[in-house]
Amino acid sequence: MKQSGEVTQEFLDSAQYLSASILQYEAVYGEDFVSPGGSEMAVELIEQLDLAPGSRVLDVGCGLGGSAFVMARQFGLYVDGIDLSKNMLALASAKLSAYGLSDRVKLEWGDCLELDRPEYYDAVYSRDVFLHIQDKKRLFSTLNTSLRPAGQLLFTDYCCGQKPWREDFSAYVEDRGVLPAHFARLYRADFTGRFRARCLPGFNAQVY
Ligand SMILES: C[S@@+](CC[C@H](N)C(=O)[O-])C[C@H]1O[C@@H](n2cnc3c(N)ncnc32)[C@H](O)[C@@H]1O
Repeated sequence: MKQSGEVTQEFLDSAQYLSASILQYEAVYGEDFVSPGGSEMAVELIEQLDLAPGSRVLDVGCGLGGSAFVMARQFGLYVDGIDLSKNMLALASAKLSAYGLSDRVKLEWGDCLELDRPEYYDAVYSRDVFLHIQDKKRLFSTLNTSLRPAGQLLFTDYCCGQKPWREDFSAYVEDRGVLPAHFARLYRADFTGRFRARCLPGFNAQVY
């Protein structure tokens, strides 16, 4: 059961992830991706998991499936991708069929707060999804349950500073219609430079 403050499929598909907006994000981030760095960054992260071919991975909030496709093609992994946006899943499923990877990648509509596959995965992987989720305790507990003993969790996410925020950032959060669920304090790697260089050459983005 969703707590107030959690985003819903209806919100994502009618506001943030309209099909046209998803294609705009993809034009910025690179084919099959809605997160900074595209396939190059995905490879760099997946290498860190150091998984044997045949291992099972859950891609939480798989978006257009970019990371799942890389894991299957380049690393020989079996991937289940779940995503709460039906618009996102429809586009991802068409790509999956076109790439002929259905024997190794399964994509399903689902909420990562409602997972029910205890001790099933060698790794849980997630790119820039947890900012959508308010109840971090439930999130990490659910993901932990789905991991086999010694399984790994690898995720990236957006962070924000302490309040008071700048006016334009507050307006952005307000526009999203959800309570801000970003991490405020985290030991982190700062990929801002790479984000600018790799994703947005010549584009003077404001990176929060
Ligand atoms: C910024 S996109 C990143 C997509 C993908 N991970 C990538 O790297 O391209 C965030 C994704 O998280 C999904 N999402 C948000 N809340 C979710 C939830 N509770 N369960 C599963 N997916 C969720 C959104 O629908 C969206 O596809």
